[in-house]
Amino acid sequence: MVSTPNVPERVDKTDALPPNIPKHVAIIMDGNGRWAKARGLPRSEGHRQGTENLRRILRACVEFGVEILTIYAFSTENWKRPPTEVRVLLRILQRVIDTELDELDEEGVQLRHIGKLDGLSPFLQQKIIHARERTKNNDRLIVNVAFNYGGRAEIVDAVQRIVKDRVAPEDIDEDLISHYLYTADLPDPDLIIRTSGELRISNFLTWQGSYSEYYFTNTFWPDFDKEELRKALFEYSNRKRRYGMTDEQIE
Ligand code: FPP
Repeated sequence: MVSTPNVPERVDKTDALPPNIPKHVAIIMDGNGRWAKARGLPRSEGHRQGTENLRRILRACVEFGVEILTIYAFSTENWKRPPTEVRVLLRILQRVIDTELDELDEEGVQLRHIGKLDGLSPFLQQKIIHARERTKNNDRLIVNVAFNYGGRAEIVDAVQRIVKDRVAPEDIDEDLISHYLYTADLPDPDLIIRTSGELRISNFLTWQGSYSEYYFTNTFWPDFDKEELRKALFEYSNRKRRYGMTDEQIE
């Protein structure tokens, strides 16, 4: 009989995962336009490829054990873009709901929307509400689509509703404000990723991101694949979150 040499088991690096997977990942999917420009393509093609990439990243999140994914798809400031591009982005959301809802539902994805619904057409509002209702009992991955979303507008909305509800000033604390945000019942994001090399948060999860870890990469969104996500998760896993405390207290 041939004896097996004492060689350590081969570890397939590409399948490795860090020990500490963030529960809630949020992504600013930036760089679709520059991705397209670099290839001599129209910006709309960048958004189309960005949408394709989103499907891949959703799958990777399920595989890696991320429980909540929040994506910044259209900000309150994006209305200032040329009308043709605004139309493309609105149509993408509509098309994603029309063509992907069955599969997302079957895969156990719960679709939610954060942002101002009332700024969208009644037709699109209906589609969003339908997608939310249809998937509300799914629990494999919660996907929060930030569409017509602005972090400051979200806080203004919350304050208006707090005043309307006649909450006594002494009852207002951080938990109460969190409860009035669009993300009321969800934990804050552990990790916020921004692609394309921009180093700012652009009015995204202004309140909820106070203690998030941030990860910036030069990669444009259409190229931010599963392996790039894995890299971000490894980096997150190496970070020490102190929440204002000392190392000793955390240990
Ligand atoms: C930023 O790239 C991207 C956006 C404003 C839109 C993001 C949308 C998608 C990825 C499609 C998925 C959408 C939905 C609704 C599910 P940019 O256009 O600002 O790129 P640039 O900074 O290079 O110009």
